[in-house]
Amino acid sequence: MKIHFDDTNLRAAMIGDVHGLKSAEIKAGQPEALKALAGFQALVEEGRYGFPHQPFQTATIQEIERFGAQVRGSFDTVCLAGIGGSALGAWALDCGLRGPHPVQGAFTPTHPRLVILDNVDPALTLAALESMNPKKTLVVVIAKSGATAETVGAFLIVRDWLGPQGAKRIVAVTSEGRGDLKVLATREGYPTFHVPENVGGRFSVLSPVGLVPAALIGVNIRKLCKGAAGMTRLAWLPDLARNPALRSALMLYLSWTRKNKPIQVAFPYSNRLWGTAFWFRQLWAESLGKAKTRQGETVHAGQTPVAALGTTDQHSQVQLYMEGPNDKVHTFWTVARPASPGRIPRQKLGLEGFDYLAGQSLAKLLDVEQRSTAAALAANHRPNCAFTLDRLDEEHLGAFLQLLEFQTAFLGEMLDINAFDQEGVELGKKFTFGLMGRKGFESYREEYQRYETKRAQVRG
Ligand code: PA5
Repeated sequence: MKIHFDDTNLRAAMIGDVHGLKSAEIKAGQPEALKALAGFQALVEEGRYGFPHQPFQTATIQEIERFGAQVRGSFDTVCLAGIGGSALGAWALDCGLRGPHPVQGAFTPTHPRLVILDNVDPALTLAALESMNPKKTLVVVIAKSGATAETVGAFLIVRDWLGPQGAKRIVAVTSEGRGDLKVLATREGYPTFHVPENVGGRFSVLSPVGLVPAALIGVNIRKLCKGAAGMTRLAWLPDLARNPALRSALMLYLSWTRKNKPIQVAFPYSNRLWGTAFWFRQLWAESLGKAKTRQGETVHAGQTPVAALGTTDQHSQVQLYMEGPNDKVHTFWTVARPASPGRIPRQKLGLEGFDYLAGQSLAKLLDVEQRSTAAALAANHRPNCAFTLDRLDEEHLGAFLQLLEFQTAFLGEMLDINAFDQEGVELGKKFTFGLMGRKGFESYREEYQRYETKRAQVRG
């Protein structure tokens, strides 16, 4: 497994002192990085955070593999009801390892597709139901809390659609000791896998949350975890030259805080990594967007993650990135050895605008376009860096996801914030519960109504 982090274009020598980091600044930041590593390590050793342990949970991995082998062939579609951290990891794995939607090829019992219901837009749910056969669908309902309104709403519809024998076609992933999903799973006898309490949603891709759907669609989860285990070993090294998670965390932290870059563009040059970009958006936004430090000081920290796809977004976003406000750090994600080159036919057509490409490959064009964009950004003093995965297979994707999780955790330490909670989403959820009539949330319904009254007065 080889993942390389190149930070050359974050440095002052490439993009100038105003936007680039001087060697002295990088050197001065190194103790902060080592402190962050030691701080996070202590929290993991205390048992507070469990994602670093996930790739080493051999018994769980085997149990999921056994279950996958038992049910294989009995479905051609896996329908996942989940949202946020309970859906995005599965999407990243599906897209990364089986190819981008909608060009994954025909689905069969040996090559099932993954349908993810991660929204309550009836247009999605109803179209999904029409596209699936209840006799050939395995439903995976995932909610760590066991009570997320969106997941419960979509699941109740799918459960009903499965019919009276439906319980046999449902698998649950939830917390062991709490939540109504656990109660229902026990009552109706669904096979159930548990999310460790110390693994938060957006850090759960290598727990049963990501591994169960992945195994069901045929991903080799053992190799996925092997790659992630290898990255975990690197991520604990107190050596910035050998630890890409710590090195990238430091460089991104310094660019963000010392060079004032409140936006990060995650810029995969790979359609297969597009799902990972959306997974990363949640990881970065929900983990690092925080009002207060752990000491209670108000900081409103956060770096807005933007997902852009190369080369597609060169024709959409790059004008802004080159000439708009210099407030972004661009992080390219590339694959050194793509599965196939995409040869362009040798035949020449006697047309200058076509013939220079004859006999070359799409992989070369993609690579050249990425390097050209990086060079042009540097010429415009725009900070950019790159992660290069040697290949895009289970081991590399597992390692990359783990790297990004460690990087986020280290950033949380450097910023002295709690990267593992999400208080900011609670109030909106409570209003929803109140308005939808959930018991115990009546006061939020009233508070919401006061807000509506105020709006009416302001509108006049
Ligand atoms: O990262 C998180 O903790 C959240 O984004 C959750 O994953 C999301 O809210 C879904 O929660 P649950 O799994 O309880 O349905």
